[in-house]
Amino acid sequence: MSNPTSETPERALAFVGGGQMASAMIAGLVKAGRDSSSILVIEPSSDQRLHLEQSLRVRTAPCADAQLADADVVVWAVKPQVLRQAALETRAHLGAALHLSIAAGLPLPTLSQWLQSERIVRAMPNTAALVGAGVTGMVAATGVSAADRALATAILAATGHCFWVESDERLDAVTAVSGSGLAYVFHFLEAFQAAAEAVGFDAPTARDLVLRTATGAVEQAKLGDPFGTLRSRVTSKRGTTEAALNVLDATGTPQALRDAVRAAYERAGELSKELSGQPG
Ligand SMILES: NC(=O)c1ccc[n+]([C@@H]2O[C@H](COP(=O)([O-])OP(=O)(O)OC[C@H]3O[C@@H](n4cnc5c(N)ncnc54)[C@H](OP(=O)(O)O)[C@@H]3O)[C@@H](O)[C@H]2O)c1
Repeated sequence: MSNPTSETPERALAFVGGGQMASAMIAGLVKAGRDSSSILVIEPSSDQRLHLEQSLRVRTAPCADAQLADADVVVWAVKPQVLRQAALETRAHLGAALHLSIAAGLPLPTLSQWLQSERIVRAMPNTAALVGAGVTGMVAATGVSAADRALATAILAATGHCFWVESDERLDAVTAVSGSGLAYVFHFLEAFQAAAEAVGFDAPTARDLVLRTATGAVEQAKLGDPFGTLRSRVTSKRGTTEAALNVLDATGTPQALRDAVRAAYERAGELSKELSGQPG
């Protein structure tokens, strides 16, 4: 993973919105060596401002002001429903900044209209960013240069793995897989723990067994063999694993997962239309 400081040595960063995602990104950047005094956070909540100043040593302001003119990059980390209003409040104070939006569901044409710029990167992170293990897809508007892409990559790399896609539509697919995907895994772990309890383990033991099994599977899978190969290697004919997998196949688990990801993908497209319906 690239070192943010090596790519963004002197760039002044401003965050509009200082909630949990902004805090995670700033914490990652500071950990990677960025000077926190180069970061300004616009955040209306006084409690959150105090927290950011004390824990991360960043500069803060309750609303957009002249300090924003120095920002080379503005990270939009507010809820999608308030981004349009925040953009209206902020526009007059902005210089020629690169805009980086992490607001879920707002496509590039809408962001471009609200921010009155074509120099925009739209990103879709997931909450594992909070523990430095995030996955973030990014898409660039027409005014984004190669240097801007490097800058955006360096900032988002502070929270984990990031990669580029070519369109808002592809970012909907990212939303359906890695954006919503942590919840699919949690859902599986939850059901797996309940199943372990149903064969007699107490809850803490069941949780521990499930977590260690899942961790072991992921560590093995990281070595690179296809998931199907790994599965068949631990499935002997007429054995216990085969008995269990036959039930999963018969109850339609693979098809259910396909349908679930498809539903999330279609909902992402609908949400973009709903959120973009706000006047520009
Ligand atoms: N959490 C995730 O896993 C995740 C994943 C992918 C994308 N995202 C996106 O990331 C964005 C931020 O999410 P989050 O979880 O960090 O939300 P959050 O914790 O609610 O943070 C948003 C912050 O923005 C502040 N704010 C509200 N209006 C503002 C304004 N006009 N100017 C400046 N700041 C303002 C809010 O303050 P108040 O609380 O006082 O209103 C709040 O502190 C969202 O658009 C979300 O869709 C989040």
